[in-house]
Amino acid sequence: MKPFDTTRLAEALGQDAQLWHLQAHDELPSTSDAARDAGLAGAPSGTVIFTDSQTKGRGQRGNSWVTPAGRDLMFSVLLRPRVAAELWPRLTTLAAAAICRAISTCVPLRPTIKWPNDIHIGARKVCGLLAETYTSAEGPFLVLGIGLNVNTLNFSIDLHHIATSLLQQMPANISWIERESIAAAVLLELTIALEAWDDGYAETMSYVRERSLLLGKNVRALVNGSPVFGRALDLNIEGHLMLELANGETQVLTSAAEVRLVA
Ligand code: BTN
Repeated sequence: MKPFDTTRLAEALGQDAQLWHLQAHDELPSTSDAARDAGLAGAPSGTVIFTDSQTKGRGQRGNSWVTPAGRDLMFSVLLRPRVAAELWPRLTTLAAAAICRAISTCVPLRPTIKWPNDIHIGARKVCGLLAETYTSAEGPFLVLGIGLNVNTLNFSIDLHHIATSLLQQMPANISWIERESIAAAVLLELTIALEAWDDGYAETMSYVRERSLLLGKNVRALVNGSPVFGRALDLNIEGHLMLELANGETQVLTSAAEVRLVA
């Protein structure tokens, strides 16, 4: 296994390397827990924590996030945004747009965004996002956790049909995708995306609509534990999903679990 190399990452970032405080570990319980603890201890905005393996990786809704060591990207970004706190929920959408752009820059693939937190290639998930808010003596901060499958080829039986990696989607003669190049592209695009918390967010939303996996399709989502069915009409300016229900009414979902395409 070739450990994740922050020197190589800094080279790939060029001048942008100075915007980030980069650290990499062989193993951590969770990069998001490490970024939370760093934030509570006063670490600066722009701290980015990578690991080659996680023993307690966390996903959405208390799920675990498990990936083999040394093949994929698992990292968390600590942010102390200067924008008003009511704009902070936009982070997931901004990050999803940045990650799609970064993937398309590095490899000839067209990822799509599966509202609210996932990035897909075709029908399978390639990346999951976890945005969390905490408060420290320095004020509130955000931790953005990113799990991006880069080089895993064999997924466990339960993930086999729902997960993919960048490498799995590439021609068979390609045997490895450099994780540092993908991470650099993500951080470069994230820097640009994070300028659009306020002005420019409408433009981000146009890109997100264009890259949406769900729009125009029939969807089943769990909202507060109850299933909701409808046709995904649009994403409103805040990034909330507008569903047309069977009775013709529109329901706006601010968040949901287990969002699936249905026939
Ligand atoms: C999801 O799709 O459920 C979100 C997955 C987020 C996983 C990443 S891996 C890096 C960071 N550390 C964690 O413990 N979780 C996030």
